[in-house]
Amino acid sequence: MAESIGALAEARRLGLTRHIGVSNFTNAQLDEALNVEGGDQIITNQVEVHPFLANRKVVDHCEARGVKVTGYMPVARGKVMDDDTLKAIAEEQNATPAQIAPAWVASRDIVVIPSSTKREHLAANLEAMKISLTADEMTRIDELDRGERIANPSFAPEWDE
Ligand SMILES: NC(=O)c1ccc[n+]([C@@H]2O[C@H](COP(=O)([O-])OP(=O)(O)OC[C@H]3O[C@@H](n4cnc5c(N)ncnc54)[C@H](OP(=O)(O)O)[C@@H]3O)[C@@H](O)[C@H]2O)c1
Repeated sequence: MAESIGALAEARRLGLTRHIGVSNFTNAQLDEALNVEGGDQIITNQVEVHPFLANRKVVDHCEARGVKVTGYMPVARGKVMDDDTLKAIAEEQNATPAQIAPAWVASRDIVVIPSSTKREHLAANLEAMKISLTADEMTRIDELDRGERIANPSFAPEWDE
C-alpha cells in the first residue's frame, strides 16, 4: 500500500496527474491507504453504484473520511432499462431509465460516470444531470437495492456488505 500510494503521490508531485484516487477499495483498504505517506492526497474511491447496488457502507465510510465517491456502472450495464419502478419514474420525468439511474446516483452526491458507445446516449447521459428527482422518487429507487454486484471477479476483496 505504501509503495503504490507513494508512487501515485509522486506522480502528482511531478505534475503527471492533477488528482489521485483509488478504486474498488474496501473501507479497511481505504483506511490503510489514507494512513500511509501521500494518502492525504487521495480524493476519490471509485466503486460500483447503481439502483441495484447502493453500496451504502462504502459510500458512508468515504463520506466520513472526506473522500469523494465516484460511482461506476450507474446503468448496471443496461439492466436498469428493464426495471418497472425506474420505467415508471422515467415516464413521470419524461426521461429514460438510463437517465434516471445516473440522476439518482448524482443526487446522492456521488460523481457518476456512465459510459456509452453512442453519441445520442452520451448526450442523454449529460442531460440526465439536469433531472431533479423528488424525495418520493429517491425513496422508491432506494428500495431497489438488492446488493447485486456486477463487477465481482475471483480476485475481488471481501466487500463491505
Ligand atoms: N473501476 C472499475 O473497476 C470499473 C469497473 C467497471 C466500469 N468502470 C467504469 O465505469 C464506467 C461505466 O461502466 P460500464 O460501461 O461498465 O457500465 P454502465 O455505464 O452502467 O453501462 C454501459 C452500458 O449502458 C448502455 N447505456 C449507456 N447510456 C445509455 C443510455 N442513455 N441509454 C441506453 N443505454 C445506455 C451502454 O450501451 P451503448 O453503448 O449502446 O449506449 C452500455 O451497454 C466506464 O468508464 C468504466 O470504465 C470502472
